Amino acid sequence: MPWCPENWRSKPARQLPTEYPDQEALDAVEKELSGYPPLVFAGEVRTLRASLAKVTCGEAFLLQGGDCAESFKEFHPDNIRDTFRVLLQMSVALTFGAAVPVVKVGRIAGQFAKPRSTSTETQNGVTLPSYRGDNINAMEFDAAARTPDPQRLLKAYGQAASTLNLIRAFATGGYADLHNVHRWNLEFVADNPQGDRYSALADRISETITFMEACGVTGREVRAIREVDFFTSHEALLLGYEQAMTRVDSTTGHWYDTSAHMVWIGDRTRQPDGAHVEFCRGVENPIGIKCGPSLDSDELLTLLDILDPQNEPGRIVLIARFGAEKVRDGLPKIVHRLASEGRNVVWSCDPMHGNTIKTNGGYKTRQFDAILTEVAAFFDVCRAEGVHPGGVHFEMTGQNVTECLGGAHAISEADLSSRYHTHCDPRLNASQSLELAFILADKLRGDRDAGLKTL
Ligand code: PEP
Ligand code: CO
Repeated sequence: MPWCPENWRSKPARQLPTEYPDQEALDAVEKELSGYPPLVFAGEVRTLRASLAKVTCGEAFLLQGGDCAESFKEFHPDNIRDTFRVLLQMSVALTFGAAVPVVKVGRIAGQFAKPRSTSTETQNGVTLPSYRGDNINAMEFDAAARTPDPQRLLKAYGQAASTLNLIRAFATGGYADLHNVHRWNLEFVADNPQGDRYSALADRISETITFMEACGVTGREVRAIREVDFFTSHEALLLGYEQAMTRVDSTTGHWYDTSAHMVWIGDRTRQPDGAHVEFCRGVENPIGIKCGPSLDSDELLTLLDILDPQNEPGRIVLIARFGAEKVRDGLPKIVHRLASEGRNVVWSCDPMHGNTIKTNGGYKTRQFDAILTEVAAFFDVCRAEGVHPGGVHFEMTGQNVTECLGGAHAISEADLSSRYHTHCDPRLNASQSLELAFILADKLRGDRDAGLKTL
């Protein structure tokens, strides 16, 4: 039977909201969305696939990052700009370290729906549906706020569209021009060690550009000097929305999920016979698969047979999220098995989701050191198995929040309450993100100096 965007509806689906009070209202909104303009174009998705194919063979490095959950409340042009520019800064640092192009993918312009560990939440004896992300219900703990509202899908679409509009303007309208490399330094980062290190790097880039211009190579001829490719991604969780955004590309006749360039399947929804895998198998977008400790290699191979039967480089990004304590134990056998089967995948490291802890004060947080430990272990495992450590996946923001512990500013438990704004998991702030990028860049450069292949 040929694949159809709605086929997932006959499969078991985890993590989807079941409490919409008015199914007809939901159907009407999905129908309306299916007539809205696509957010991304098939040609852009193909460009991303080609870039990821380069990552697969070690000729590029993937940087994926952004909010755990975007929210209506934090929707502001400054937030979009600051996330965008810290990603640009990180990518400049990584490009220097790895000496290969960095493929930039934001968790942005659509990252709303969240899987939850329990479907209800109880406070003071009152039980309500869990908060599932701003495109489904609201975070406040009252019955009306927690009731799923289909109108939120339209609002989320609108927010994704205008976020993407601003990102496209930044990426191609001059802001991302390498001549502006100094201006990307964020004020609150500028006067700390990360800022200083970044300024020194920016000086070297400016000098190089001046030299190249003297040789006659300018931004007019070289697009990479004046523009960047920036791609969007989110978890393909809320399948009604993803289905509504799925269209046939007139050039190729293939289906594309036009809600983002790349989507991923979460660690809780990757059952081979489940709805999320059924949906993702039919769209041409690059597909991420979160790989946690409960995944075994046979199951992963089954998933790859379903999602990538042709074994095409650029189609699959495996996002390992084992946790600092489990990664050395769990990851090697999977990487080894896939390599021995000749599977063309990007291996990326999400050092966030296996390292979430709760403080005594009740804050969900992550230790900067645990994040570093997992990234280092990921690189070691990939090296030992002879595969490319292709990329990293972070929850981060350009804001000066206090959500993760540690880093050069030594954020402590007592600091968490001062600027804890996330709608879901704790994010690295701008300084922590840049610090991590520099540490990674040093590692990549060290490997290059040691004669290991580029990545
Ligand atoms: C996430 O990326 O926000 C997430 C929920 O991840 P995972 O599926 O790996 O738990
Ligand atoms: Co998260």
